[in-house]
Amino acid sequence: MELGLRGKAAIVGGASKGIGRAIALGLAREGCAVAIAARGRAALEEAARAIAEETGTTVLPVVCDMARYDDIQRLVREAVGAFGRLDIVVANAGGPPTGLFEELGEEAWQLALDQNLLSAVRLVREALPHLRRSGSGRVIAITSIAVKQPLDRLVLSNSARLGVVGLAKTLSRELGPYGITVNTVCPGFIATERLMTLLEERARRAGVSLEEVVRREEAHVPLGYLGEAEDVANLVVFLASEKARYISGTTVQVDGGGTVAVF
Ligand SMILES: NC(=O)c1ccc[n+]([C@@H]2O[C@H](COP(=O)([O-])OP(=O)(O)OC[C@H]3O[C@@H](n4cnc5c(N)ncnc54)[C@H](OP(=O)(O)O)[C@@H]3O)[C@@H](O)[C@H]2O)c1
Repeated sequence: MELGLRGKAAIVGGASKGIGRAIALGLAREGCAVAIAARGRAALEEAARAIAEETGTTVLPVVCDMARYDDIQRLVREAVGAFGRLDIVVANAGGPPTGLFEELGEEAWQLALDQNLLSAVRLVREALPHLRRSGSGRVIAITSIAVKQPLDRLVLSNSARLGVVGLAKTLSRELGPYGITVNTVCPGFIATERLMTLLEERARRAGVSLEEVVRREEAHVPLGYLGEAEDVANLVVFLASEKARYISGTTVQVDGGGTVAVF
């Protein structure tokens, strides 16, 4: 299927590793120029080099903390400066820390809101003039299955990400007249560094091995295995494409069927 992404330009947050990196690679494979953002310079530059080498596409690494507004402003400025256009933004960053409500103070809440909710608000605000000019702009927010089925010990994620779903749904209505679609993608259990850190913590708490915790998680997934970052990226690349022009305001999980909720 020709996705119509050749010659377009994208920004992908949290993209030196994991799901963000797989999304950047997927878009680059379709001929889309990509600006990738993360806080750590070394891993980011390595990712940019590897993606550019594999795809022959322009990849711009921008050191950026998605929790900081001034960094996001610079990210958009640098991407538009380099590409001369911006068609697609993927709002993504690292996940917030785990913990029960009573263990998490004001500072942790503020950081989670900056990193996992306001980052999406700010990215869209800065990108909007360019997305409007594109005529077929795309906004895709990466959240979590936590928006359909809250996860234990992840109150920050369960709370901040629902704000993103409300934002995306509202934006799909307000920005539709400019040809911009807005969708939310919810990863389930995807084998990345983030997931392995969470599962290691769970194994420690339960006094069992990591392999045992992975086996238990897999048992909750009807397909019987953890997903790969590319499984999420494939959906995001499609939603970013011209072929998805009539899909907007959706919240789609990529979870091997693991979420029990009907919608
Ligand atoms: N993997 C899963 O099973 C799963 C499930 C549900 C939801 N999610 C969510 O999906 C998102 C991506 O997860 P992942 O598994 O790909 O995580 P990951 O493997 O830990 O990768 C996170 C990426 O984001 C970057 N990053 C982290 N915080 C950032 C920030 N404040 N600003 C800019 N970049 C930042 C990291 O680089 P630096 O550290 O150098 O910045 C890294 O490149 C997270 O929000 C996660 O909670 C993941």
